Amino acid sequence: MNSIQIADKGFEIFLENDNICKRIRLIGIQLNLDYENRCPYFLGVLNGSFIFMADLLKEVTVSCEVGFIKISSYEGTESSGKIQQAFGLPDNLNERDVIVVEDIVDTGFTLGYIISEIKKQAPSSIKVCSLLLKPKALKSPIDELEYVGFEIENDFVVGYGLDYDGLGRNLKDIYKAKSV
Ligand code: IMP
Repeated sequence: MNSIQIADKGFEIFLENDNICKRIRLIGIQLNLDYENRCPYFLGVLNGSFIFMADLLKEVTVSCEVGFIKISSYEGTESSGKIQQAFGLPDNLNERDVIVVEDIVDTGFTLGYIISEIKKQAPSSIKVCSLLLKPKALKSPIDELEYVGFEIENDFVVGYGLDYDGLGRNLKDIYKAKSV
């Protein structure tokens, strides 16, 4: 399907599942090299990262731990800037190699907050792996952003874990909002 409708918005196909999975395989290879003989802690940011996390971890062969944090900071298509931590961070990240797994980095506010919280536990390292990045929306550079699947324009996207007002997370492909 090249065009879909979700609630009041029209979307068009943007990244097909095959393409996403090929990119994830390459990220997996890189992670396996970079974290050889370490035991990283993959920390997914719910809800958006759940599909990406599952596909990514199938490519990871190094020994690792997995956990999730839930942050709610978004309403509709614009960042509200408000950040609420619904589920807390694990408290055993001291001296660990932490990899934060995000669906998308937009302004970077959410990520900045998560990184500052993790740093309080003095981990050995923190890196971020995000499927998507909107470089033009990023408010300030994030040094930890090491692994990025695709850099995209400031379009609103949905599918493969990403939602529009709660809908569309189950779509296999990623769609972008049609400009009206
Ligand atoms: P940031 O704090 O502005 O970087 O926003 C990050 C969060 O906003 C992501 O984890 C998503 O939940 C949400 N978000 C940002 N852009 C989009 C989008 O294009 N589609 C769906 N959700 C988005």
